[in-house]
Amino acid sequence: MDKLILQGGHVLQGEVRISGAKNAALPILAGSLLATAPVKITNMPHLRDITTMMELTGGMGVRFVLDDQMGVEVYAEDIQRFEAPYELVKTMRASILVLGPLLTRFGSARVSFPGGCAIGARPVDLHLKGMEKLGAKINIDNGYIHATAPNGLHGCDISFDTVTVTGTENLMMAAVLAKGVTTLHHAAREPEVVDLANYLNTLGAKISGAGTDTIVIDGVKELGGGQYAVMPDRIEAGTFLVAAAITRGKIKLKQVAPTTMLQIIHKLTEAGADIQMDDNTISLDMHGKRPKAVRLSTAPYPGFPTDMQAQMIALNTVAEGVGHIVETIFENRFLHVQEMQRMGAQIVLEGNTAIITGKERLTGAPVMATDLRASASLVLAGLVAEGETTIERIYHIDRGYEVIEEKLSQLGAKIYREHS
Ligand code: UD1
Repeated sequence: MDKLILQGGHVLQGEVRISGAKNAALPILAGSLLATAPVKITNMPHLRDITTMMELTGGMGVRFVLDDQMGVEVYAEDIQRFEAPYELVKTMRASILVLGPLLTRFGSARVSFPGGCAIGARPVDLHLKGMEKLGAKINIDNGYIHATAPNGLHGCDISFDTVTVTGTENLMMAAVLAKGVTTLHHAAREPEVVDLANYLNTLGAKISGAGTDTIVIDGVKELGGGQYAVMPDRIEAGTFLVAAAITRGKIKLKQVAPTTMLQIIHKLTEAGADIQMDDNTISLDMHGKRPKAVRLSTAPYPGFPTDMQAQMIALNTVAEGVGHIVETIFENRFLHVQEMQRMGAQIVLEGNTAIITGKERLTGAPVMATDLRASASLVLAGLVAEGETTIERIYHIDRGYEVIEEKLSQLGAKIYREHS
């Protein structure tokens, strides 16, 4: 298995292009199952999860033509299989996103039940309850969710008990071809939900209210084709901003969407960063100063994203003062803490709160990546650790960060990948 090896202590400086958003590209690819004419998607990130989603939908009969410019043509006219097998779902929970499109277009879907994952139980009960409310029959057998709707789906009112991002996306896609109007109450407001709605509308869907907590979908008979550019990845962008802040550096991000990142920008400003932005760039300058500790609590959008929690803990480990980070979305999302402690970080866990006392420097150590964002936080810690840090199991990081070691090297980090 590949490893990442870092020599810490180098100040990051320079410019970096941010990739298309993984969490927008995945539902957009799943949503392509609804297209009866060719679709062209641009700004597609090159990531393991994207390949998995292509493999998954490819197995159903979708054909892809890739170009050399982050673009992909999708042909989904001829789908013959409506199944998401265990072998793929177990590697990527977002596979559940094919359920809504398959069910609404073909009246049948068989999707392996996604299990728990490193960061918590992560049930899909709200996806299934919503599908049932739209008129689907759901059976669970042999670890598979078997959903059918021989007479089609019918628009209705659905209210989520908990804000769920992929749950909102799945039901939005199911409702696109349902008869009549569906209203999703207490819907997720994440920018990736808005990106998916804009994409589906480009193909002929009638969705309004995405970005608010009430989304209204007026069912249409079918979707056609079209062209769409995936939004920039706000979590990749945030991770690079922290990489610059933690090393007391200076960075300019290109092809970003600053308005989707206001909480992250706000917290980094509190940490002492001087941040300037325009429509699609963000510049951060620490003016050589040590970051200050920050307090935050994760929350659904527009709150602080849980996908940036681990990176902010990394920042606090070398900040001036004591930081408090509260995780409210997932019950077990502190696996990176143990690894950072191995690098000398002073962190105490009290329930869902991490209390971090900043130190001048961490010390390099062999550590293990446990999930996607935890791995990113270990890379950040490695950037400011004295000596060498080796990160194992980095297949996690390849799921969500495009050529991270190349982008960081270009900014002055000493990082390389050892293939084994
Ligand atoms: C998405 C993101 C992930 C991010 C998360 C929270 C994608 C592909 N992944 O994951 O990167 O960390 O949002 O912003 O977009 N829940 C239930 N029942 C359900 C569904 C969810 O109880 O049916 C709970 C979950 O256990 C969790 C909370 O709701 O505690 C939020 O999870 P959810 O928003 O669904 O996360 P994902 O969509 O899986």
